Amino acid sequence: MGKPYVIRVGSQSGGVGKTAVCVNLALALSMLGKKVLLIDGDYINPSVGFYLDIEDVKAGMSDLLERKKGLKDVAVKYDNTELYVVPGILSVTIKVKRSDLKQVPLRLDEAAGFDFVVIDTPTGLYDNITMRIFDDGLIVSTPTMRSMRMAFELSAIYSKAKLNKSLVLNRVTNRKGEIPVREIEDAFGARALAVLPDDPIVYESEVRQIPALKLNRNSPFSKSMLELARIYIGKSTNKG
Ligand SMILES: Nc1ncnc2c1ncn2[C@@H]1O[C@H](COP(=O)(O)OP(=O)(O)OP(=O)(O)O)[C@@H](O)[C@H]1O
Ligand SMILES: [Mg+2]
Repeated sequence: MGKPYVIRVGSQSGGVGKTAVCVNLALALSMLGKKVLLIDGDYINPSVGFYLDIEDVKAGMSDLLERKKGLKDVAVKYDNTELYVVPGILSVTIKVKRSDLKQVPLRLDEAAGFDFVVIDTPTGLYDNITMRIFDDGLIVSTPTMRSMRMAFELSAIYSKAKLNKSLVLNRVTNRKGEIPVREIEDAFGARALAVLPDDPIVYESEVRQIPALKLNRNSPFSKSMLELARIYIGKSTNKG
């Protein structure tokens, strides 16, 4: 079996929708027939488990980093899908010092049977755990000056390290006063892979702990996520 296509989802500003994108992108890929591993690499504020309502777990990301357990022991199968999740565990993650993490890159040797690995990451840290193991660094930004400026900073970091990167704009309303998508793309130097609408389904999904895609496949947000997943399937095919 080949190597999985690894997507690192990051942002330099918090609350832009990284986790919502991770969870729904991973689910969308699995709905399109791919075997997907979703890793909660946000050891500062893990919330993938919250979004998927898989919180009652004894093992997770920190066990992987401490090499206490292997992927097979910590990955949880989500519902009847081919989506497997490595949750972050808040109480345990705190034991892992940030200085330790810098030395310990996440190893994905056991992920050989997966088509895709999607990794959620901490806001604003250039951690070495996931920094050099991905095929695409997906940068999430909202159409605000603050978020954009920080997204460009992450983009520059990826460029400097010669790492592939893509932009996804989230919570776009196209309302008057919002920075137009085209202007953001011009500043970024490439088209956004996806422009995700601001959609109340995402709030609802958070409250009910059911991913937006599962709540309603036809909501504007869900449709855009499925489109993004198709784009990544295309990219992974070109890679292989
Ligand atoms: N497209 C959207 N439409 C409406 N609400 C959204 C959308 N995307 C995200 N949200 C809401 O924005 C908030 C932040 O989303 P999320 O937790 O995914 O961001 P994050 O970047 O992972 O945050 P953190 O920095 O804390 O990890 C949540 O309340 C979520 O429901
Ligand atoms: Mg998050």
